[in-house]
Amino acid sequence: METRDKILSMLKENQEKWISGELLSGDLGISRAAVSKHIGVLRKTGYAIVSAPKKGYRFSGTADNIIVKEISQGLKTDRFGKGEILYFQETDSTNVQAKKAADRGAAEGTVVIADAQKRGRGRKGRAWFSSPGGQLLLSVVLRPSLPPMEAPKTTLMAAVAIAEALRSATGLDITIKWPNDLLINKKKLAGILTELNTEMDQVNYIILGVGININSQVDRFPEELRPIATSLFQETGAVHPRMELLQRILESLEACYRMMLTGRFPEILDRWKALSDIIGRRVTVAMIDRQIKGTVTDIDNDGVLILEDEKGDMVRVLSGDVIF
Ligand code: BTN
Repeated sequence: METRDKILSMLKENQEKWISGELLSGDLGISRAAVSKHIGVLRKTGYAIVSAPKKGYRFSGTADNIIVKEISQGLKTDRFGKGEILYFQETDSTNVQAKKAADRGAAEGTVVIADAQKRGRGRKGRAWFSSPGGQLLLSVVLRPSLPPMEAPKTTLMAAVAIAEALRSATGLDITIKWPNDLLINKKKLAGILTELNTEMDQVNYIILGVGININSQVDRFPEELRPIATSLFQETGAVHPRMELLQRILESLEACYRMMLTGRFPEILDRWKALSDIIGRRVTVAMIDRQIKGTVTDIDNDGVLILEDEKGDMVRVLSGDVIF
């Protein structure tokens, strides 16, 4: 066992009790400065360790921290979260970090997680608000063998996977709003941002970025977001363990991703439709250059929204914002 792991297990064995730096350094045969350095690294990787003068260190198992080493434990996946996991207490954007990783060849299933983002990205160049420690902010590197035209499937697949994982973990009625918002009672719980890197006829990689308000206190969000955002904490009044939810989400994502790649996307689409109440509804879709009003007749196999406009023409909408 490495020295750092020994420190961790001594602290964990004595949960909620103080252990002096002197005792740790004596037992492990290292200097007090080295102990303090190891504690610093452990904190950076997500362990909640408090320190106090004259008392020493105490493991505080109560914080809802993401512990990188423990993510793969009990995780029922083959690849997602089983290889490289990059964790940041704070970063610009997990999607940006995942892109950097993918550009240097990171394997499919590489996961990037952060507790806070300084420049979290949303769709259409919008910002994603960060509430440090209260959200799950993750990006997964995908390397599907798909033509670029079919990439939008990934967003729908991810919405189904995450909605189903969260529904089964919490029992909450989580719905999907085309193409990628997860809602509870019409308020936004989570958003998905898929970013593509392609050749002419083949996807190089996709960065699947997911932001979920888990234990965020929505009354501390910027004023304009408060009426339209929610979190699991907000809905239930209870703190939800982010690590466990992360594991269930990775499992669900991998299972749905595999279905998508093995010709079973129509099944995912049926599940998507069951989680969304958009079909048959009159909506306005805001696109970059115009708005269309009409009735949603279907979502096609590529994830494109099919709308019958006011003149009775069928319009295919690849990307936009739906306003009910
Ligand atoms: C949206 O609803 O517009 C999409 C929001 C996606 C936010 C997540 S947070 C983790 C990942 N990193 C980012 O910079 N964005 C995505």
